[in-house]
Amino acid sequence: MAGLVSSQVLEQIRAASDIVDVVGAYVPLKRAGASFVALCPFHKEKTPSFHVNPQRQIFHCFGCHKGGDVFTFVREIENISFLEAVRRLAERARIPLEFEQSPARERQRFLKETLLTIHEQITQRWQAALANDAAGQIAREYLAGRGVSPEAVKLFRLGYAPEAWDDTVNWAKSRGYDLALVEQAGLIVRKDDERGGPPRYYDRFRGRLMFPICDEQGRVIGFSGRVLSGDEKTAKYVNSPETPLFHKGRVIYGLDKSRRALLDSGTAVICEGQLDLIACFMAGVENVVAPQGTALTAEHCRILRRYVNEVVLCFDADPAGQNAALRALDDLLASGLAIRVAAVPAPHDPDSFIRAHGGEAFRQLIAGAAGFFDHLLAHLCRQNDLRTDRGRTEVIRALGEAVRKTGDAVLFDTVARKAAGLLGVSVEAVRAEFRKAGRTTTRPAESTAAPAGATPETPRPSEIEFWLMRLVLADAELAEWALGHLDLAWVEHPVVQRVLEARFRAFEQGQDPDIPALLETLADPAATALVTEAVARGEPIPERTRILMDAVRRVRDRWLDREIAELTRRAAQPDTSPEARAAALQRQMELRRIKTAPLQPRLMPPV
Ligand code: CTP
Ligand code: MN
Repeated sequence: MAGLVSSQVLEQIRAASDIVDVVGAYVPLKRAGASFVALCPFHKEKTPSFHVNPQRQIFHCFGCHKGGDVFTFVREIENISFLEAVRRLAERARIPLEFEQSPARERQRFLKETLLTIHEQITQRWQAALANDAAGQIAREYLAGRGVSPEAVKLFRLGYAPEAWDDTVNWAKSRGYDLALVEQAGLIVRKDDERGGPPRYYDRFRGRLMFPICDEQGRVIGFSGRVLSGDEKTAKYVNSPETPLFHKGRVIYGLDKSRRALLDSGTAVICEGQLDLIACFMAGVENVVAPQGTALTAEHCRILRRYVNEVVLCFDADPAGQNAALRALDDLLASGLAIRVAAVPAPHDPDSFIRAHGGEAFRQLIAGAAGFFDHLLAHLCRQNDLRTDRGRTEVIRALGEAVRKTGDAVLFDTVARKAAGLLGVSVEAVRAEFRKAGRTTTRPAESTAAPAGATPETPRPSEIEFWLMRLVLADAELAEWALGHLDLAWVEHPVVQRVLEARFRAFEQGQDPDIPALLETLADPAATALVTEAVARGEPIPERTRILMDAVRRVRDRWLDREIAELTRRAAQPDTSPEARAAALQRQMELRRIKTAPLQPRLMPPV
């Protein structure tokens, strides 16, 4: 990984990142002789044993023995990879990273920065409207009625979007923003003129209480707006659409504020809604996050795992909430996170429970949350008639289906024993039924791996091109790197080439399409088969960046070999003129030279 950044650049970044400045932004440092001290941010303590040494540019804690340089500090405190820490510090020092330099990358960066600025400015505007505008009275009353404290309003930067079709539109115009850009930010909606005139725009968020949604660093990247009127016709919540900044499956509401508490407790309480989360905070429960009404995605789980090893699901008591707690948990079950379920008694959700019974009762509810499989077993026992064979079988089947998803053999055994005891059947019978449940849920397409795209016209791509495609589809950052280093002409397989081209083009347009969207643009059965095969091989790929770099290089070298062979063939042909032969040999030499050179960032955008 570190190979991506040269040691010179690393030194440059280090020189521009004074450790006292960097650490000082996280913890208040006090001078003590030649060094600085603070309460250690990595463990709990009452007297400071965390030291920062400005001469040697290192930190060390004599309590928990953590120590290192400025990169280590950022990596540890932010809970990110080394490369990501380098990137953050490079950004802070405004030092461009070699592997990130490409015109496409620059444009993308500029777009994102502008969108972030727009989000920050409109957040402030809506905050001011909530605090001061006469029209904001309705929102102020609403918040007071729901018991949201002024501190919480400030901490979560709540705001009010005025009840108008053109408030944001006019604001954007007065700031000189291109309306198409504000549309890309998701704040306004475009309406094409039917008679071919210029498009018109109107505000997406009108007369709503605004919840800014932040990334892990606390930068506003999207919004959720709640209705204030009792109007049944409008949706209760309107959210930002997918934008270059905002990907619903990736952001977790509240994480920027709860990360410290998550790390301290090792547990994440998961609520459904923003107001539930805010109520938890006000009750002093700060290790809480909200995926905002969507199922937890694999990406959400991956992010949470960086902070905690256990989650407590705390969903509404209503049937929808309970079902949400038990359904669509595939990714969470597979994530390896321990799961407990807090049963919020009907008719409450966490917010109303806290208001009715207080924070202490809520903390007890969380503390007493049952293990996921105990909860599921109890739930299934309530739902089925245990006096019948059919009812008991159904309980075991559903339980087996869930436990298989964890891939955890120990859990498989524990749950089988519990179910057997509770239902009065033998453990062997339960195990047999569990195994059956597994068979019906594994999809045969995945295990037999039908050779997709292997029609007579198009042979399968080489293993290396297939890997290249897998990696580019796996993650936007890898796609970005490939875009900056791969010439599509190198790619031999026409379908792989088409897939990569579509992915790159979307990226250049600032989009991060999901797989279905990509398939739609491709509109090609051969490509579909190949893409789905690549994606269905879902196992995690270790050292992805290194493998990608290697793959791009090998695809390039194979292209060079093909070109060189073709030139040899041409030079050997009897009807080739001496000049053409000389030119071919000259070109061959150039190509051989390229083969020994490392990969270069591309200067021209490839599509
Ligand atoms: N949600 C959404 N769009 C909707 C409804 C809900 O995005 N049309 C999301 C919101 O993030 C919301 C969460 O799902 O916070 C839970 O929905 P719900 O339980 O209906 O709302 P509450 O959070 O309880 O909101 P309130 O207490 O204000 O009714
Ligand atoms: Mn609620």
